[in-house]
Amino acid sequence: MAHATTQTSAETIAQFDRYVIPNYRRYPVCLVRGEGSLVWDAEGRQYLDFFPGWGCNLLGHCPPRLVEAVREQVGQLIHVPNTWYMEAQGQFAQALSERSFGGQAFFCNSGAEANEAAIKLARVYGSAQGKYKIMTMEHGFHGRTYAALSATAQPKYHQGFEPMVPGFTYVAHNDLAAAEAAFDAETAAILIEPIQGEGGINLPADGYLEGLRALCDKHGALLMMDEVQTGLGRTGEWFAYQHYGFVPDVLTCAKALAGGIAAGVMLAKREVAAVLKPGMHASTFGGNPIACRAGLAAIETIEEEGLLVRGEAIGERFRTHFEQMRADRPDLVKDIRIRGVMIGLELTVDASTVVAESLNRQLLINATHGTVIRLLPALTISDQQVDEGCALLAEILSGLPAS
Ligand SMILES: Cc1ncc(COP(=O)(O)O)c(C=O)c1O
Repeated sequence: MAHATTQTSAETIAQFDRYVIPNYRRYPVCLVRGEGSLVWDAEGRQYLDFFPGWGCNLLGHCPPRLVEAVREQVGQLIHVPNTWYMEAQGQFAQALSERSFGGQAFFCNSGAEANEAAIKLARVYGSAQGKYKIMTMEHGFHGRTYAALSATAQPKYHQGFEPMVPGFTYVAHNDLAAAEAAFDAETAAILIEPIQGEGGINLPADGYLEGLRALCDKHGALLMMDEVQTGLGRTGEWFAYQHYGFVPDVLTCAKALAGGIAAGVMLAKREVAAVLKPGMHASTFGGNPIACRAGLAAIETIEEEGLLVRGEAIGERFRTHFEQMRADRPDLVKDIRIRGVMIGLELTVDASTVVAESLNRQLLINATHGTVIRLLPALTISDQQVDEGCALLAEILSGLPAS
């Protein structure tokens, strides 16, 4: 069997055309190697990556401590099922609990799965009182499996897949009065991203999340944070809710949870988690030793290298560059939304042309919601790399026609 680097990008693309279901829009580039914020394609071209691993590679590509931990674990124990105790899973659960609200963990492999677990937990928890509805917010994103997709209040993702799972109530984001009006005696929980990612890096309005906490307390419902994208240090705290003055009942995290190794988790307060009994929920690979060792290595790296604080500094460096872009092109730059290394630059025009032009210049970025440039850079990116990439972006914007 051929090693990936023995094929040209064109050969790999041809193989995909023949054998891989085309459910993704892919750039015509085959990436073969990565280090920090740099990646290389099969032809040896180097790219600066402002969106490593779609938010999963929070420590950059192949962070050394994580690579070492995985190498060691692979030689010791690759997988054992959850019918056994495993040291790494227990240690990772403790590490996450101590860095959040002291709850307990259920491990899985992705964000959608973590949200499925949270939705099922809320249903079981509420069932004694006839509560089953989950409230979610417009422009939110919770994943592609059926319940997570049904929780995603964006009709464009439902098209062709209806009927959705019943029992979800959609309300306008950042509108506390709308949430209050939508509550009823059957509402079991609110599921919300503290900062909407796919929806365009939408920050919560002042007091909004705290207001939802108060509403949930008043109505006896669970407050569940989808921190799949914001979690494990992306925003300058371990979890984004920690910027605000409240504690959730349930939290989900994936993406960066294990520094790029597939992993997901649902954390729940002990008294809430207690309703899940053996046999009620499971995931074969969830909490496997490799993912948990990688997750522990990610936490160690962030702590030992002071990366939570560094993340805030990186975000501010981007802000300075973006403010200059806004001053230069006020017709193009509509808004700047940044929290740590979760970065949004809203344009007045379609952002996909900027993404394409960036790729031509070997800079990898993302656009979401049509007009928002979304960057999820690594916490290990250097100031020089931030400056280089932003200079390219500024150049691209300056070449766009007046809007
Ligand atoms: C906030 C949020 N929740 C859930 C998901 C789904 O995660 P996954 O693709 O790992 O299933 C995503 C993915 O982008 C996300 O951003």
